[in-house]
Amino acid sequence: MPEHAPATPPRPDDLSRFRTQPVSFMRRSGRLNPRQQRAWDADDGRYLLEVPRHIARTSVDPAHVLDVAATYGRSAPLVVEIGSGQGEAVVAAAAAAPERDFLAVEVYTPGLAQTVLRAAQRDLGNLRLLQANAAEVLATTLPPASVDELWVFFPDPWHKARHHKRRLVTPEFVGLAARVLAPGGTWRLATDWAHYADQMRAVVEADDRFAPVARDDGVVARFDGRVRTSFENKAHDAGRTITDLAYRRR
Ligand SMILES: C[S@@+](CC[C@H](N)C(=O)[O-])C[C@H]1O[C@@H](n2cnc3c(N)ncnc32)[C@H](O)[C@@H]1O
Repeated sequence: MPEHAPATPPRPDDLSRFRTQPVSFMRRSGRLNPRQQRAWDADDGRYLLEVPRHIARTSVDPAHVLDVAATYGRSAPLVVEIGSGQGEAVVAAAAAAPERDFLAVEVYTPGLAQTVLRAAQRDLGNLRLLQANAAEVLATTLPPASVDELWVFFPDPWHKARHHKRRLVTPEFVGLAARVLAPGGTWRLATDWAHYADQMRAVVEADDRFAPVARDDGVVARFDGRVRTSFENKAHDAGRTITDLAYRRR
């Protein structure tokens, strides 16, 4: 069921129905396999950030602002991945760049649990995970100009025209990205759907706070800091072309 659907009175564990705007994700089964469950139970705040919640399970109290330096115990360039899925990309990137800090923002519990497992296997100290709706994290949780790189890789395409309002990358979202990215910071996006790539380009390039990194239209060569996730592999198997985009915050 869509997270914003107005319906019968919510159950106490289903406050998500109080959302008034469409969101880019559906409620899905949060079932964990035994290994994921053990990793989740053992985490005790090492990777999963504990934040005050608001109108939904995946909503952060808008009054809560993350103390980034305190969170990582140092000041370092911060990379934020939105919709980190199973964590393949962010864990590999955090392991490859110990001099940077990484924040993975994801709503899907099994994906986060799998990311905790992967991070713990590598004993990463520069990665944290936040279970939250990314739009809210960018709007209020992260301090302005606190992010060095923002990554949005393979966001859900929401194919049907009547679902396009659920797409993550909208003019409003571009404004939120502009809020958190530091001047000179980079916004990287990738999608395997040509029509979503067109939408991304249209909305980002219409905002004069962003400039294409390489060409007039933001299209760049494949970002080699992004390992191929199983999700991307499926797109290749299906014969879809991947578009990488990169923009600089002016
Ligand atoms: C199609 S998957 C891609 C996952 C990953 N980036 C990859 O390439 O394998 C999109 C992910 O975005 C997450 N997502 C969608 N909307 C979100 C939102 N508003 N905030 C946080 N995560 C979101 C979904 O739960 C899903 O895991």
